[in-house]
Amino acid sequence: MTDLATQYLGLRLKNPVIASSSPLNVHVDNLQKLEEAGAAAIVLPSLFEEQIQLQEMGYDLPSLFEPSALPDELKHIPNMAEYNRGANGYLALIYQAKKAVTIPIIASLNGYYSGGWIRYARLLEAAGADALELNIYYMASKPHITAAEIEDMYLKLVQNVRASIKIPVAVKIGPYFTAMTNMATRLDQAGADGLVLFNRFYQPDFDLDTEKVVPTLELSTSPELRLRLRWIAIISQYVAADLAITGGAHTAVDILKGILAGAAVVMMTSALLNHGIEYLAQVLADLETLMKRYDFDSITAVRGRMNQQHVAEPSVFERANYMNIILSMME
Ligand SMILES: Cc1cc2nc3c(=O)[nH]c(=O)nc-3n(C[C@H](O)[C@H](O)[C@H](O)COP(=O)(O)O)c2cc1C
Repeated sequence: MTDLATQYLGLRLKNPVIASSSPLNVHVDNLQKLEEAGAAAIVLPSLFEEQIQLQEMGYDLPSLFEPSALPDELKHIPNMAEYNRGANGYLALIYQAKKAVTIPIIASLNGYYSGGWIRYARLLEAAGADALELNIYYMASKPHITAAEIEDMYLKLVQNVRASIKIPVAVKIGPYFTAMTNMATRLDQAGADGLVLFNRFYQPDFDLDTEKVVPTLELSTSPELRLRLRWIAIISQYVAADLAITGGAHTAVDILKGILAGAAVVMMTSALLNHGIEYLAQVLADLETLMKRYDFDSITAVRGRMNQQHVAEPSVFERANYMNIILSMME
């Protein structure tokens, strides 16, 4: 019998595949379909700190959300209520999700600084979330704000959220840190129970006809996994926090690669948006077949088997990789 079980954030999961935060997960019937297809846990769509601030000012109800009524500095914030049900509706979503499925439900907060809104984490906990994923996203666009200040801001946020609640906290970050391994170890020390690598950032495009800057969304493809594999393979030897991969996992092969790199779980969104929720059942069946083919008995036994500590040549994850790739072009 192949054992697909794993531990993530202190939660015992039946397999290592989690449905990551996406609009699919705002519908309770989709949560049930995800459980039927075999998802081990589900991350809800993020609630944004701006929404909580608006709610505290009395602007949470869609009927009240009339941009002209807002102060100038808040006018640009889109109405996200349809996406995640708004700050109050989000608590109801957690409650309904917990009643609808038996797998763990992970709430998600998206913000970057330790404002009053982080008290909201307590409400998410009280509503029944099994864990909280903190998606920290700050665009470093101001010339006077240094990398050290931004990193400190991230760490303070994690410390404050960690101190406010008892449920486990995972931190989802992007790949754009100069000293990624140092940042990962500091997030670990700040109290993160898990690190989710990496956010995908959607870059705005230019429309030449209208001369407008337009938002674009392209779903991921498997090659994006490599950035995650490399960093998980390096970081997994230094942190106690559980590691999750998000970005570029589309097949059972991708998932097994993530586990061998050192991830406790691998998350999926693009693949489910492309092929439908039922596709997950196929991926899990393929994962079992793949494990048998390689004589792997359990996920826990092979986790980290190819991280930097365990491969024969640890330098393949660093500069040597670049030189080897260039040489391979000459063959
Ligand atoms: C339409 C869409 C909405 C998303 N919304 C969120 C969100 O609210 N919060 C979040 O942390 N990630 C969000 N994500 C990112 C996904 O959770 C995931 O990290 C990303 O898509 C990379 O994984 P993938 O390659 O499996 O798609 C969203 C992704 C998509 C495609």
